[in-house]
Amino acid sequence: MNGILKSAHSGWRYVVLLLLIIAVLQALAGWFGKKSYTEGNRKLNVFTLISAHIQLLLGLGVYFLNGWYKMDSSVAMGRYWKMEHISMMVLAIILITVGNAKSKKVADAVAKHRTIAVFFGIALLLILGAIFMMVKADPSRTFFGIS
Ligand code: HEM
Repeated sequence: MNGILKSAHSGWRYVVLLLLIIAVLQALAGWFGKKSYTEGNRKLNVFTLISAHIQLLLGLGVYFLNGWYKMDSSVAMGRYWKMEHISMMVLAIILITVGNAKSKKVADAVAKHRTIAVFFGIALLLILGAIFMMVKADPSRTFFGIS
């Protein structure tokens, strides 16, 4: 069970990242190109949100089942796995959730695209930053590896 969750969390990042990158590019194109907000745009943003929530559940499972909260926070690697990974990723997922909710509330199509571009864009930077920090803090991890 543990192994399945770990591999699922490791591999699912590519689904989240791919959807997030496409959603941000689409939102930027819609914002600057003053395009209409289509049903396809809405669906992609919702799928991105769902993929991030699945990653959150997998991450919580791995975190608590393997006792990562017990790591020694006086060393960089312990600090990363105990606090930094979870807090940066949870913040990114909150931004995706809030951005998607806000985009539904605004009526104007360009404002919808702008909201998604800003919130999802910051979330993307946070996630990439957290993965870079992971590679630095934990020498056993690589940017593109799946464990
Ligand atoms: C979008 C959100 C997230 C992404 C993209 C992400 C990405 C990753 C990546 C790339 C790894 C390294 C996997 C490997 O080396 O093969 C990892 C490991 C881990 N993540 Fe996340 N993560 C996310 C959210 C979370 C959350 C919210 C939690 C905790 C609640 C969490 C807990 C963990 C733990 C404990 C590990 C270490 C697993 C192990 O190797 O045993 N992650 N995550």
